[in-house]
Amino acid sequence: DWVMGDYIAEAVENIRKQVGNEEVILGLSGGVDSSVAAALIHRAIGDQLTCVFVDHGLLRLNEGDMVMEMFARNLGVKVIRIDAKEKFMGELAGVPDPEAKRKIIGKEFVEIFQTESGKIKNAKWLAQGTIYPDVIESAGKGKKGAHTIKSHHNVGGLPEDMHLKLLEPLRELFKDEVRELGVALGLPREMVYRHPFPGPGLGVRILGEVKAEFASLLQRADAIFIEELRNTIDQASQKSWYDLTSQAFAVFLPVKSVGVMGDGRTYEYVVALRAVQTQDFMTAHWAHLPHELLGKVSNRIINEVRGINRVVYDISGKPPATIEWE
Ligand code: XMP
Repeated sequence: DWVMGDYIAEAVENIRKQVGNEEVILGLSGGVDSSVAAALIHRAIGDQLTCVFVDHGLLRLNEGDMVMEMFARNLGVKVIRIDAKEKFMGELAGVPDPEAKRKIIGKEFVEIFQTESGKIKNAKWLAQGTIYPDVIESAGKGKKGAHTIKSHHNVGGLPEDMHLKLLEPLRELFKDEVRELGVALGLPREMVYRHPFPGPGLGVRILGEVKAEFASLLQRADAIFIEELRNTIDQASQKSWYDLTSQAFAVFLPVKSVGVMGDGRTYEYVVALRAVQTQDFMTAHWAHLPHELLGKVSNRIINEVRGINRVVYDISGKPPATIEWE
């Protein structure tokens, strides 16, 4: 609409004034905020923007290719894709503790981002998809003395020694405004209205030690769950179960249980499905998904993902459980 059109014109003008003819780098995570920031800044300064996309191997199935397709191919944004799967897997080997895993993933991410962005000549600006609620949250940090349950790290957090100026064009926007802006800038609706995905990715959805083999099983199981949620329409509301839930995903449990398949006995891993409904993610209800939907997802995962022979559904609210399992 015209209001959004005016907003974009003004934001573009501001970015051009701020940046002049200097170069900007941005850490693309595939999340909504960094994606919309990239699209907006690209609209303003085109090739003066270079995005760095670090693929840590703990993304959703085919996420890396989708990010490249959308930004590099469709929007013509300069994106450097760093395949860091082996590096991350190496650093994570033998580490079962959730907070230790978060720290390793955050630290590796910053190091790789720093190295790669250091190669971009004349970069003077670091762009971030910081939105208004992030500004409020970090302003309040330390004051409340609240103790940290999980050390959320935001992908693309600024290492102070990078000596770059900060460009944060979404600082005044709420999430729903960021989404509208994304659509107006030409990002696909289903991308912009995606469920949130944690920075450490599947690293906190594979319980205990992270292994490439587990990540591959989990990616495939998760993709089946999400596909069925998108394809199942609730008759009463005419919305998909994906849109009726705030966050939904599969969790890999590194325990084996016995099953039968054909004439044979199987002894394979378990996947838990988690789907929640929430306004603010501070409290959440487990979603009452239709049994037929759960049944179909379970059958598909067990038939299509060799290595998984049992699927369970998480019926815990937050509190006392958290949304993620780690
Ligand atoms: P919990 O598990 O604390 O999750 O109930 C609340 C919301 O936060 C997300 N989450 C994270 N996001 N880095 C992130 O960027 C993290 O380490 C992290 N841990 C949890 C979670 O996906 C949910 O949306």
